[in-house]
Amino acid sequence: MIVSVGNTKGGVGKSTAAVQIAIALARKNRRVLIINGDRQKSALYAIAARQAAGVLPEVSCVLCNEGDELEQLLNKQASDFDDVIIDVGGRDSSAFRAALVHCELLYVPTQPRAFEDWALEDLTLLLDQATAARQALKLSPLRVLAGLSLADHGSIAADNEDAKKSLMSLPQVTFVDAPLRRRKAFWYSVAQGLGVAELKPVDRKAIAVLDHLMKTLFNI
Ligand SMILES: Nc1ncnc2c1ncn2[C@@H]1O[C@H](COP(=O)(O)OP(=O)(O)OP(=O)(O)O)[C@@H](O)[C@H]1O
Ligand SMILES: [Mg+2]
Repeated sequence: MIVSVGNTKGGVGKSTAAVQIAIALARKNRRVLIINGDRQKSALYAIAARQAAGVLPEVSCVLCNEGDELEQLLNKQASDFDDVIIDVGGRDSSAFRAALVHCELLYVPTQPRAFEDWALEDLTLLLDQATAARQALKLSPLRVLAGLSLADHGSIAADNEDAKKSLMSLPQVTFVDAPLRRRKAFWYSVAQGLGVAELKPVDRKAIAVLDHLMKTLFNI
């Protein structure tokens, strides 16, 4: 499956989620390519660290941040993999637009804060344009699943509820109740090119959170 992990808002945990998802899929014996589709090279660095340490299962990663190149890459290479995860966005870009036309699923990590709410307007505009482009190409409608990222526990849980409400109000988007919570294990493992399930010491809560997200997004 070709999956984009994107949001027009920067710093919401897209790359962290994309790398965790890619490694989790590879650990289910799937051949996985992650495309680093923005100028920040977070996913590329994470997978380079994984490859340098010889960690298995292997995950492939390429940098591709122009829309036409992304299209060509998908045409040529997507069939060599079971899953392609595209880490895009942070802003409107040709790569993000191309990813929205050619992927089967868009997962939108959304940070629960009021200004993220306003930023969702940019995203809905892009989704409308992608819908029109897909219709012109006679492609199936894009599935868009949005969930909370960097979600906090406890006293600021009201923010989570507000973000959930605004996501649920978007007609193009299906809200998924699978928050990727703020936990050290998520960024600390990615920094080493590992998935949370490969990190020592084990963080069982982080593993359970990612397992729930994988079940919700892919039913695996
Ligand atoms: N679930 C999480 N728990 C704790 N820290 C996280 C989590 N997700 C992301 N982070 C941290 O938050 C910051 C932003 O994450 P990340 O780089 O994944 O966001 P991004 O949306 O890809 O950003 P950009 O728009 O710059 O590409 C990083 O410092 C990352 O380590
Ligand atoms: Mg990123």
